[in-house]
Order: sequence, then C-alpha cells, then structure tokens
Amino acid sequence: MTTEMTEVTDAEQFDEVRLIDAGSNPTRFARGWHCLGLAKDFRNGKPHTVKVFGTKVVIWADTKGKLNVLDAFCRHMGGDLSKGEIKGDEISCPFHDWRWGGDGKCKDVPYAQRVPLRARTAAWETMETNGLLFVWNDPEGNPPPADVIIPEIPGFGTDEWSDWSWNTFLVEGSNCREIVDNVVDMAHFFYVHYQMPQYFKNIFEGHVAAQHMRSTGRDDIHTGVQLDMPDSETVSDAAYYGPSFMLDTVYTLAGDTTVETMLVNCHYPISQDSFVLMFGTSVHTIDGVTQEQADAMAEMFTEGVETQFKQDVEIWKHKTRIDNPLLTAEDGPVYQLRRWYEQFFVDVADITEDMVARFEFEVDTTKALETWKVEVAENVARGVVPEQDPTKAKA
Ligand code: FES
Ligand SMILES: [Fe+2]
Repeated sequence: MTTEMTEVTDAEQFDEVRLIDAGSNPTRFARGWHCLGLAKDFRNGKPHTVKVFGTKVVIWADTKGKLNVLDAFCRHMGGDLSKGEIKGDEISCPFHDWRWGGDGKCKDVPYAQRVPLRARTAAWETMETNGLLFVWNDPEGNPPPADVIIPEIPGFGTDEWSDWSWNTFLVEGSNCREIVDNVVDMAHFFYVHYQMPQYFKNIFEGHVAAQHMRSTGRDDIHTGVQLDMPDSETVSDAAYYGPSFMLDTVYTLAGDTTVETMLVNCHYPISQDSFVLMFGTSVHTIDGVTQEQADAMAEMFTEGVETQFKQDVEIWKHKTRIDNPLLTAEDGPVYQLRRWYEQFFVDVADITEDMVARFEFEVDTTKALETWKVEVAENVARGVVPEQDPTKAKA
C-alpha cells in the first residue's frame, strides 16, 4: 500500500474545482429605516396594505395626517385591518369593529364594556422625509437612535425640484442582498448597465456605505441616464443610509450644461426571497430650464434607470446566491461590504468594530477601460448595438 495515491500535490491543489457556497438567507429582517414609497400615496383617506418583513401591514393617515403602520392582522380574531375603515384617528377592523390606534393599542371595542388589558399589536414607528414614508424596523424592538438618519434634500418640496418620478418593481426569487452587492460592483456597470466607469471608489463608515463613480456613456449604445446629451459625463455620489435606502446625487455634465438629479434607490423585503425595489428621480430646476423641461428630463432619466434596474433583475432572476464569490481586484470590496451589511442583522450588542469602521477602497479602472474601449470600438466598427431589452437579452 502506498500513501502517494492519497496525497494531494501542490499542482492538484491549484487545480481544485472551486465550489459555490450558496449560504443561507438571514433569519431576520434588517434593523433600520425602510422606505415604503411616496407618503402622499397613503393619504387618500383609505387604509393600505403592504406585504413587508414577512407579514402584512396596514397603513393609514389619522386626522392630523400622520401615517401609521400596524401589523394588519387584528389580535382579536385575526381580521385584516387593511380591509377595514379609518374611523377618526383609528383603524377599525372589518370583522368586529375593534379600534386600533397608531401606537398599536386597542382604543375601543364599541360593543364591549371593557377593552381587554394588554390589547396591543405590533406598530412600526414612521417618519416622513423628502416626501417619502419610512418605517423603523428593529427585531429587538428598540426605537431608532437619533444619529441614524435619512438626509433631507435641501429645498425638496419646493419648485427647486421636480416631483418624484417613482417606480416600483417586485423581485421574486432573490434575497435583497443582491441589490446591496451592486454598491461595490464596478464591472457590472459596463456589462449590465452600459456605462463606462472611469473612477470608482467606496467608503463605508458606521451605517453608511458610499459609492462614488464618474462614468461616461458608451459609443455603441446610449441610455436615458445620459439624458441624450452627447459626450456627457456622469458624476454620481451615492450612499446607503442603513440597509435599504440609497440616495444618489447625479450630475450629468455635457458641454457647459450641468443637470443635477436626485436618485433614490431603495427596497423593502417582503420575505427572505422576495423584495420590492423602488426608485425615484427628481431633477433640480436650473436657470433656463422650465419646470416642464425638468419634469421631461426626469422622465427620460427615469426611463433610463428603469431599463438599468430591469437589467439587474434579469441577472438576479437566474443567478444563485453566493457567499464565497471568487474575485479580482477590480471587483471591489464585496466581502467588506457584506461585513458592513451584517451590522443590520445582528443585535446592537453584537455589532463588531469591523462592521462599522471606516473603510475606503478605490478600484483601479485602467485595465478595464483599456479592454472596454476596444470592445466598444469594435462594436461601432461592426455596427453592433448591444441588446438593451433584458427580456430579449443574451440567451
Ligand atoms: S378580528 Fe378584528 S375585531 Fe374581531
Ligand atoms: Fe446594478
């Protein structure tokens, strides 16, 4: 018997097939502010239903216009409060008219002499900023810390900014970590979004994960994100504030024109393998640009972004979850980003320094740009236009 047979040589080790570790989805939903959409959409005098955080919630406006969010299932006999009616400040259950307040307490049972003690249901703290409704989710049940904020856009809500052009996608079969991974993914901007990132840098610190990118369009394919301005350059400073809400200031520069657009990219989880992806755009009105023109630009930009998001969704629909991606230096700090993201899934007491410490990484785009310029030039020479409609994209 020889031992050589079972010994693995160095050469064989290098030849080993890399296995994908698909890991498993988290067992809880992230702590943090989650945007549920445009606040005004919930203020039409009716209760609304949203599937989120593995349950269903009811959202309604009380007499002062404050939006309230409760678990939709009535603690009496399980009725669906979102099928009920708003009565005064409370939501009334359609089954036996129990009245629930925005604080989660049962305020009245009209047919009963007494409201049961401890009649309380799950309530999410709400906040409105930039015309958007946010709920605070915390599996530990703590209130939001004062320093965990969603920044206000200066001048938003005045005619300095066009109205949000708002879009919603349902993404099924994927955990929302997929969209967060995009924060560091320089190369997919070329292949999936048809942009040429010239400069790409990430900075993570505390609950904020930033992505700073300068990019140009491609000569072989144009997207609405370039606003139809030839030779435009896009300067994008984006950051996630917490696990699910990204605010992106985008400057589109062409000649001596600069258009400033605010882009929101946010999501909320329905379950561990489905989420709602939303994005909104608003254009800063500039001298010489009327409100109407700004709205039209926002529309064009939004269409461009919509196409881009569909391209992402098409990838997610078919890919596997992967906990051990095999990376090059140009792929950016995927593992550090995921460590940052992890802070929202552990108890506050278990947040470690490496999840929140300042971390910076600039991707060197030299080699990528060399390659991409050749590819684009070849496409232009051959008259090839990459297919942008994801439903028809590469088989
Ligand atoms: S189930 Fe809601 S009042 Fe009875
Ligand atoms: Fe993407």
